Amino acid sequence: MESKIKELNDKIAQAHLGGGKNRIAKQHQKKKLTARERVNYLMDEGSFEEIGILVTHRTTDFGMEKEKYYGDGVITGYGTVNGRLVYVFAQDFTVFGGALSETHAEKICKVMDMAVKMGAPMIGLNDSGGARIQEGVRSLGGYADIFYRNVQASGVIPQISAIMGPCAGGAVYSPAMTDFTMMVEDTSYMFVTGPNVVKTVTNETVTSEELGGASTHSTKSGVAHCTSANDVECLEDLKKLLSYLPQSNKETTAKLPYELNDEVREQLATIIPDNPNKPYDMHNVIAGIIDEDSFFEVHKNYAENIIVGFARLGGRSIGIVANQPLYLAGVLDVNSSIKAARFTRFCDCFNIPLLVLVDVPGFLPGTDQEWHGIIVHGAKLLYALSEATVPRITVITRKAYGGAYDVMNSKHIGADMNYAWPTAEIAVMGAKGASEIIFKKEINEAADPAAKLLEKEAEYAKLFANPYTAAQRGFVDEVILPQDTRRKLIKAYSMLENKVSVTPNRKHGNIPL
Ligand code: COA
Repeated sequence: MESKIKELNDKIAQAHLGGGKNRIAKQHQKKKLTARERVNYLMDEGSFEEIGILVTHRTTDFGMEKEKYYGDGVITGYGTVNGRLVYVFAQDFTVFGGALSETHAEKICKVMDMAVKMGAPMIGLNDSGGARIQEGVRSLGGYADIFYRNVQASGVIPQISAIMGPCAGGAVYSPAMTDFTMMVEDTSYMFVTGPNVVKTVTNETVTSEELGGASTHSTKSGVAHCTSANDVECLEDLKKLLSYLPQSNKETTAKLPYELNDEVREQLATIIPDNPNKPYDMHNVIAGIIDEDSFFEVHKNYAENIIVGFARLGGRSIGIVANQPLYLAGVLDVNSSIKAARFTRFCDCFNIPLLVLVDVPGFLPGTDQEWHGIIVHGAKLLYALSEATVPRITVITRKAYGGAYDVMNSKHIGADMNYAWPTAEIAVMGAKGASEIIFKKEINEAADPAAKLLEKEAEYAKLFANPYTAAQRGFVDEVILPQDTRRKLIKAYSMLENKVSVTPNRKHGNIPL
């Protein structure tokens, strides 16, 4: 008996060493934690249970039968994060550079299947040199098995990818199909083809960091939703993100206990500048509405003219989509529309109520936008909000102009409650532009055209640069004092808690992609 126990313990000890002490030291030299250290940091202490620790690959080509490591380069299993069940895989760069073999993929698929069956989030910690080169197409098949599962699990359980090392070639498509991609600064990169291939094909000289590092993907491409300074911060951010999400699409995120003692927030009354063309930071409006320090921003440095993120409001988890007048005056453009549409759809999949804060002067004009398809991309946001059945509330803080008024969760596309501040201007366009068009003849024929324009502008502004015309028609349910916004929203979300929405029977809609 003793020798049998020793045999098992030896195998487990060997598995825990991954690719060996030297490779672990190399991993640490690169300022990276090992896969096992990452999993242990992520999970509640002592909660992790490993599945498939003794799995080894089956390859015999290139003398591979002599080089086997328990676990085959990926740690898989389940445990809890803040007391809630999650499934995880963590690629072990110390074993064949974390490269994905047929058996490595089978291990990942096994926990993905369990996560869907049990209805719990699936977390992938990626650190891999890609397809296991010695296995050829068997490895590619393994990727496809994972991709297929990513798609089947989409909208069923939250899927989060943290990129904590290389992620190249086909490997990028699993994270791309998960709900959130997080990246560690300086030590991670993602690209379809690396700098060498880029040089050969396009003759561009580019570093891995420039091509697909965390800063590139969080500012230029939007591939990364969040970035963190190091492994530990990334895992902390991951835990925080999880706290806003339910376990699956069958649940809602648990409400945190909350004492209502700060419902009126006076600071909201002084945010909007007197001059309607002056910018202000919508983050201050968000902070003024939500539970203290509860905002978790997504895509913080990408398409900054729109803000998206999770927050708590009276203990309830909500998703916020807000125009940001501080960048490009808060216009909608291609990138901001895509960013907001994807976030909206995530919230809708997972029963997270939406709050839309509106200060939008319209869509960004120009050849660049038109040629990049602003028509179709703007339609994504319109579509995503229109199809969302979660409780949806809008607050118009200032401008709601033109088609962008319709898009930004207007009453007409199914919002449940629409509020406006007294500073709201709900119109087809700004007073100046409108006057120049409809009073063109009168202005041109006037003795003093400039004075006439000002006169007409004032006339138009009086009629439309306010929330009252919309309120008269019921397009706005109530014009509220800014300081009352939080109180109104807490009550309205509570009122909407049992919302039932009947949608037409169909396989799926056809969102303009
Ligand atoms: N298949 C099999 N083994 C791989 C591998 C792969 N795709 N990628 C890396 N490895 C192995 C290396 O042979 C090395 O093994 P060793 O420890 O026995 O020497 C180990 O993983 C670490 O790789 P190394 O190249 O020393 O690490 P690095 O940090 O210098 O570079 C990469 C990392 C990912 C940039 C580099 O390994 C690489 O370019 N890998 C191939 C990427 C690729 O083309 N993948 C296939 C297409 S998806």
